[in-house]
Amino acid sequence: MTDNQHQQEQAAVRGLLLAVSEEFGHPTAPEWEKALEAVPRHRFLPERIWLRNEDGILTARAIQDDPDGWFAAAYANDPVVTQVNDGKDPGDDPWPSSSASAPSIVVQMLEMLELRAGMTVLEVGTGTGWNSALLSHRLGEQNVASIEVDPEVTARARTALTAAGLTPEVVCGDGRRGWAVRAPFDRIEATCSVTRVPGAWVEQTKPGGVILTPWDNPWVCWGLLRLTVGENGSAEGMFSPYSAFMLMRGQRTDLRIYRDVVHDEHVPDESHTDLPAHEIAEEPWDAAFTIGMRLGNVWQAWDEDPDVEGVARRLWLATTDTKSWAAVDDCGPDTPGFTVWQHGERRLWDELAAAHAWWLAHGEPGPERFGVTVSASGDHTFWLDSPGSPLSDL
Ligand SMILES: C[S@@+](CC[C@H](N)C(=O)[O-])C[C@H]1O[C@@H](n2cnc3c(N)ncnc32)[C@H](O)[C@@H]1O
Repeated sequence: MTDNQHQQEQAAVRGLLLAVSEEFGHPTAPEWEKALEAVPRHRFLPERIWLRNEDGILTARAIQDDPDGWFAAAYANDPVVTQVNDGKDPGDDPWPSSSASAPSIVVQMLEMLELRAGMTVLEVGTGTGWNSALLSHRLGEQNVASIEVDPEVTARARTALTAAGLTPEVVCGDGRRGWAVRAPFDRIEATCSVTRVPGAWVEQTKPGGVILTPWDNPWVCWGLLRLTVGENGSAEGMFSPYSAFMLMRGQRTDLRIYRDVVHDEHVPDESHTDLPAHEIAEEPWDAAFTIGMRLGNVWQAWDEDPDVEGVARRLWLATTDTKSWAAVDDCGPDTPGFTVWQHGERRLWDELAAAHAWWLAHGEPGPERFGVTVSASGDHTFWLDSPGSPLSDL
């Protein structure tokens, strides 16, 4: 590398550190600043990345075609998509299946791990390898293991790590099972989101150790969960807001309303509501997080252009087991209220309205007031404010 290149690289890293600390409102912890300087992010990106165009569509960008744009993307405080559609041909519907996460969330999570020298960490979701490089810089590569489900992504991360002179153990496998060979760990950090914390992670973390993972709920993908494992073998902790990560393979659901949920023979019940359906379903993230907690396995989808006479917009609700669904029709500004259709054992619109009323009645809680206890067998008990107030009793 020439002096010029080195200077350009260090200027870009300093710019990135500034953007990260501006987002936090305080300087980055010195040990992570040093790590970011030592392992420059662009060295972990593949030659072809995927960036969103002005319409929000993921579009391939190759370093050969646009070296400056590629380099600028590496040092923006944004995620960079590095694989789409699990490595298959995306056709005209590319969706992200691997990425380098946004630097600010990477640093925030590293700080939340509260690492000390000599600790061991398992990362779930190696991706580009950049986060495992930062961990290796901080703890020594012998204390870091990382597991990635996708063979091609794994191979690329190993190559990038080796080129950076770092060789933490990188395993290709399903991170839901953790990595028993090296357990127990002081920390398990997932960099893909989960709808349930696998029991294996609880089992493979030392008492007093920490599990940190992005959280996903079918209603809304939002929040981080930080659990501490107790002497009794279960883990307990609380959520915090703001993060949104791609869901872990093995916990994904891929449901389409007309293919999987609504069938010709269904005869839904019809009713009317004057409640503001749009606001209830779309309200602030705190409300959405709470509604997700209350409803459990319910997802939503807006149809902005339903092919139904007199309906301007339709909200779909459905359980992930596809057994119950509801549709809420907005018939335009001249028709007050909404028409509601409900099918199945669960009355999903009624449940949504009740969950929203619960959010208002309980002081509009956000993620910081929710917690969960996870047993070693993977059972989850959600609570509000303290483990003594399980959601099932409230
Ligand atoms: C946001 S990326 C991780 C970013 C990464 N830590 C980095 O520094 O670039 C999420 C990664 O999780 C991986 N992943 C998804 N499901 C997984 C699973 N069941 N086990 C292990 N890795 C998984 C994806 O293939 C993807 O590479």
